[in-house]
Amino acid sequence: MKNNLFFYVIAILLLGSGCKKEYAPVSLDKIRLVWNDSPETTMTIGWDQISGENPKVCYGTKDQGRKWNRYKLSQEPTREINHYNMNTKFCELSGLLPDKAYYFVIKDSEGVSERFWFKTAPDKPVPFTCILGGDTKSVEPSLSAGRFSNKIVAKLRPLFVVFCGDFTSDVGTNPEYWAQWLTDWFELTRASDGRLFPVVPVMGNHERGNMSVLNKIFNAPYQYESPENIYYSLSFGGNFFHMILLNSEIDEGCEQRQWLEKDLDKHKNFTFKLAAYHKPFRPHTMGKRENIYQYHQWAYLFYEYGLDISLDADSHMSKITYPLKPDSVNGFEGFVRDDISGTMYIGEGSWGAGYRVADDNKPWTLRSGSFNQLKWLQVFPGTENEDAHIDIRTVITSIRDSAKTSITHIEEISALSEDNVFTIPEGIDIYSTEPYGTVITYPFIDRKNSN
Ligand SMILES: [Fe+2]
Repeated sequence: MKNNLFFYVIAILLLGSGCKKEYAPVSLDKIRLVWNDSPETTMTIGWDQISGENPKVCYGTKDQGRKWNRYKLSQEPTREINHYNMNTKFCELSGLLPDKAYYFVIKDSEGVSERFWFKTAPDKPVPFTCILGGDTKSVEPSLSAGRFSNKIVAKLRPLFVVFCGDFTSDVGTNPEYWAQWLTDWFELTRASDGRLFPVVPVMGNHERGNMSVLNKIFNAPYQYESPENIYYSLSFGGNFFHMILLNSEIDEGCEQRQWLEKDLDKHKNFTFKLAAYHKPFRPHTMGKRENIYQYHQWAYLFYEYGLDISLDADSHMSKITYPLKPDSVNGFEGFVRDDISGTMYIGEGSWGAGYRVADDNKPWTLRSGSFNQLKWLQVFPGTENEDAHIDIRTVITSIRDSAKTSITHIEEISALSEDNVFTIPEGIDIYSTEPYGTVITYPFIDRKNSN
């Protein structure tokens, strides 16, 4: 009996150590999801391979936990590059089913990663949420503020995040800063059940040290066969939602303008069209210069093709305007209010970067403010009872005290679950725009003047 017991104990120990070895964490990190192509059927998974060989993504629509060989599908990296002290692998998954949960692990010669999962975009018009913002820094107190905003992503579970430029301090070529940004993104935006949220990257002036850096970090698409022309567009939901990711750090005219017009024309029948770019035409802080050339290249095209929402960043503050029509002759700073056909301009970045004073409002400004923030959009297709619309909320993620320390109460915000991503979580701090309240709805109905 004693001998038998001894045998069983040894067997259990051996089995246990075998399992531990098989499922040891692999030597990779900084995992990020990116939308590079059709969000309905593709997903790019990027990571930094620190050691180990022959990595592959094992994935499928059934959750197999970390049992990598039970996943029906697998994909080896489709692109590998060494930049900024990282051995970056990109796995461009394609042929995915729309509006589905996909579970995956990354397996290599050293082991198997944790199990993560993501959702593909729907191919029909269905409600979804997304987060839009920009501008993080690599040093305190902005670093902490950016981390607070990252944590909001995990709590709100958006379909995707548009990050509208300026990822790090400096000019986008500092390996330590990128390692920090990617590690924070991976660790802090990940939901507690392992769901990862794809980022849609946009070029900012703090990436100008290498104009192709977002292609190296996120596999971002480019035009005219040059990775320095990082601008592209993405669509999903059938003809429901189209977004155009522009580049304010290169010539906004010439090739880019031609490409923009073609893209707007091709997608003019979409229910909603959004454009995102880093530098605002008309900043809402005095310290930032006006971008007149950019305005002339893009603003009239936006209006002509019925662009609904424009997102910008760069100024480190919050703004939202009435729907606007460009009018360089009669308008104030080139714009007049047009609630029926105008583009609503939202921005201006302060995901983490120290916020500037909001001292440059216009007659067509709905509201501006100074704090760290992101925009949270709930997008709804038309139904029998209501027209298609977008609810826009400005979420305050932190403010600074007199000692310039970033303070937040985001830990008190209740996290949403998969079946209630349209709920407003308790404890969330949403900027109120009186008399319209905490939600600005597009198309804009002026309740102030209709009451
Ligand atoms: Fe900037």
